[in-house]
Amino acid sequence: MSKPFYIIGFMGTGKSSLKQYLEKSNHVIDLDELFETHTGIDIPSYFDRYGETAFRLQESRLLQHARADYIVTGGGIVEREANMEWMRGQGIIIALDLPFEVCWERIKDSDRPLVRNGKVAVRALYERRRPLYARADHVLDASLSTEAIAHTLDQLKGVEG
Ligand code: S3P
Repeated sequence: MSKPFYIIGFMGTGKSSLKQYLEKSNHVIDLDELFETHTGIDIPSYFDRYGETAFRLQESRLLQHARADYIVTGGGIVEREANMEWMRGQGIIIALDLPFEVCWERIKDSDRPLVRNGKVAVRALYERRRPLYARADHVLDASLSTEAIAHTLDQLKGVEG
């Protein structure tokens, strides 16, 4: 199997849409979905019951078991340095980049647990994480169409995969 491509990026950068597109012709794992299947509980309820620290621990474990052409991660995967090291060691890290306001418009009415903290807190999270996403092997402009992004990924697969 070729090197996995890990898709990272803040909430609302379009990781899920990209996933839906890529899975038409690739093996794709979505870590958030894997999390919910594996634990049998949805992420907001998991946060309520066990807290973010427990979530991060499980998320890291699942990351280390995931094998696919593309592994689409949750926005907080960059919170643990060990996750970044793991992804770098296994494959290629691709970040989706989009301005905060665009992300916010997409996520503000969602049930994501961290969104409950409000816009000011989410903006601060975005600013804090941005340099972490920037450490990816490739940072892609997520304002481009899903097709264009997938095309770039295809080309990168040819070179790096
Ligand atoms: C999180 C992002 C979510 C999910 C969880 C935590 C984060 O995934 O993993 O709610 O810390 O940014 P998406 O980026 O797919 O929304």
